[in-house]
Amino acid sequence: MAKVDKSEKENINALTIAINKESDSYAFYKNAEKTVLFKPLKVLFNDLAKEEVKHKSLLITELKKLEGGAKKIESLTNGPEKSKDYGLSKYLAPQNVKPSMGYQDALIVAMKREESACELFGYLRTIITNKNLKNIFDSLYKWEVEHLRMLEEKYDEEILTDN
Ligand SMILES: [Fe+2]
Ligand SMILES: [Fe+2]
Repeated sequence: MAKVDKSEKENINALTIAINKESDSYAFYKNAEKTVLFKPLKVLFNDLAKEEVKHKSLLITELKKLEGGAKKIESLTNGPEKSKDYGLSKYLAPQNVKPSMGYQDALIVAMKREESACELFGYLRTIITNKNLKNIFDSLYKWEVEHLRMLEEKYDEEILTDN
């Protein structure tokens, strides 16, 4: 069997962390979409869920290209992200939208999640040496910043204008 070199292992680890983050984001938005009662928020959360699953597919495609990557995919679960490799527990965002939450709180939880995604990809893009993966993490960082901006706009529209 071909030996996986150290940098390739690091690339696999970074992609695994990123994939778990996207799985988690997708699960969060699907749950949030079902939980919130407000139609405009359901629509937004559903749109964001679709984007997160696209991000995940993109990362899986990249992982498959790496030596040992296909094997890693078999062991991936949709469970909580395994962050111990990089000590990334600070990027975990475990809170979910609950039925008791109002519009404002649901948006705040989602914004916190996106901030956490921005921090994670912002970090991964600085530590990764593989040029192709660096570009991918750069794009993901920009897309998560865009998600945060969409949520902030919704917040401004629906909450600040009410007062
Ligand atoms: Fe994402
Ligand atoms: Fe996102």
